[in-house]
Amino acid sequence: MNNNSDSEKAVDEQFEQRTASPDVGKRQKVKAHSKKWWWIYLILFCAGFLIITLPIIYVGFPNIAQHGVNKARLEVTGLEFYNPTPDHIEVTERIITHNPSMYTPTLDPWSGGTFVVTNGTYSEKAILYLPVPKTHTKHPVSNAAIVNATVPIYDQDQIALYATQLLTLKQVTTALVGKPLLHIGKLPAIHVKYNASTTYNGLNGLQGFNVTNIRIDPGNTLLILPNMNGTAFIPNPSNITVDMGNVTFSLKDPKGVEVGKTLIENMVLRPGDNHIPLIGMLNQTLILPSLENGFANLTITGTDVVYNGKHITYYEKALAANILHLRLNVFQILKDSLGV
Ligand SMILES: *[C@@H]1O[C@H](CO)[C@@H](O)[C@H](O)[C@H]1NC(C)=O
Ligand SMILES: *[C@@H]1O[C@H](CO)[C@@H](O)[C@H](O)[C@H]1NC(C)=O
Ligand SMILES: *[C@@H]1O[C@H](CO)[C@@H](O)[C@H](O)[C@H]1NC(C)=O
Ligand SMILES: *[C@@H]1O[C@H](CO)[C@@H](O)[C@H](O)[C@H]1NC(C)=O
Ligand SMILES: *[C@@H]1O[C@H](CO)[C@@H](O)[C@H](O)[C@H]1NC(C)=O
Ligand SMILES: *[C@@H]1O[C@H](CO)[C@@H](O)[C@H](O)[C@H]1NC(C)=O
Ligand SMILES: *[C@@H]1O[C@H](CO)[C@@H](O)[C@H](O)[C@H]1NC(C)=O
Ligand SMILES: *[C@@H]1O[C@H](CO)[C@@H](O)[C@H](O)[C@H]1NC(C)=O
Ligand SMILES: *[C@@H]1O[C@H](CO)[C@@H](O)[C@H](O)[C@H]1NC(C)=O
Repeated sequence: MNNNSDSEKAVDEQFEQRTASPDVGKRQKVKAHSKKWWWIYLILFCAGFLIITLPIIYVGFPNIAQHGVNKARLEVTGLEFYNPTPDHIEVTERIITHNPSMYTPTLDPWSGGTFVVTNGTYSEKAILYLPVPKTHTKHPVSNAAIVNATVPIYDQDQIALYATQLLTLKQVTTALVGKPLLHIGKLPAIHVKYNASTTYNGLNGLQGFNVTNIRIDPGNTLLILPNMNGTAFIPNPSNITVDMGNVTFSLKDPKGVEVGKTLIENMVLRPGDNHIPLIGMLNQTLILPSLENGFANLTITGTDVVYNGKHITYYEKALAANILHLRLNVFQILKDSLGV
């Protein structure tokens, strides 16, 4: 038996050697082997594919996406603040995103913490959290807007600080911070860190403020009624609209004596020049001693901001930090008022 099979093997081998090149034999073996074990190759191939592509999708892509988000620049082109209450405010914010990368991702709606940035340092707490709508960023620029969103005030000190900076500074910096969910095409959505600061014009201390067309009623000495009116001229070099409601200002002479009060009803500061009527009470007994050649140097400071019957303390703090100066030609005003 043994001999027989051995000789058969030898014949087979001779046959193979004669009929085919050694390669063909190998190939056939490989073929047979593949037929049997193909699924292992498939698994290995898939595993290899995944080992290479998964890091690209789950590590490389998020890095690329994060890098793109980091490179994008935020610009705030307009802000509007309406209907303030002690703990809420209605905000409109118009944003332009400058996107230098060719990726044009979509960000799902997210909550954007808005932080005051003072001389490059972020405040620890947010002013408020803005509901940023779903945005599809384009290349190179895209627009987005949060329109009249009523948002709770997150931190009273921060909104007072922000209102003060908006009112007093030439330029204000705030940052928008959060973790939006980003999509590009069919790739898995990922959370990216968004942390972009932006600088824009503030109201610059209302420089250029003046009061014109002042009329006083010298006969009204009882001061039951307002005895003065005029027009406040308030330039606003920013692109910011602020509805403050009913604002009372205190007028003081250089010695710090309060010589009168004025009230601006429904004071809305819009971008550009604002001409707003005011009424007031001037205590003529008190103002006379401070006159110099008929002029009175007055300081004007907002003291009360009342909106729908409630004090808005963050605006009151901002106005208190911004002292305005007015050189009033009292003799001229008296002449104008008496029509002489
Ligand atoms: C101010 O707002 C207007 C209207 O929203 C806009 O067209 C303009 O570009 C803004 N200006 C600045 C300096 O952002
Ligand atoms: C920011 O820096 C300016 C100039 O250095 C300085 O006048 C100002 O007081 C600083 N503001 C704050 C809040 O520290
Ligand atoms: C936002 O609300 C204010 C006051 O309620 C209104 O005057 C303004 O037109 C509104 N803005 C938009 C864009 O709807
Ligand atoms: C955002 O960036 C600023 C400055 O680079 C940093 O101070 C701050 O901690 C960052 N905030 C978050 C939430 O990453
Ligand atoms: C303020 O207005 C008055 C009256 O119109 C004018 O005489 C005066 O020059 C103005 N002052 C300033 C600082 O513009
Ligand atoms: C302003 O005051 C003068 C003098 O009291 C008065 O005649 C005039 O009607 C008042 N104007 C307004 C708009 O209240
Ligand atoms: C005006 O000031 C004088 C002196 O302080 C005071 O006696 C008078 O009561 C004041 N008038 C009004 C209406 O406040
Ligand atoms: C009022 O201000 C002017 C210029 O701002 C100054 O020349 C004048 O001395 C001041 N007068 C008083 C009484 O303070
Ligand atoms: C301002 O005061 C007037 C008169 O009292 C009132 O009619 C108006 O509603 C007040 N405005 C606000 C915004 O509260």
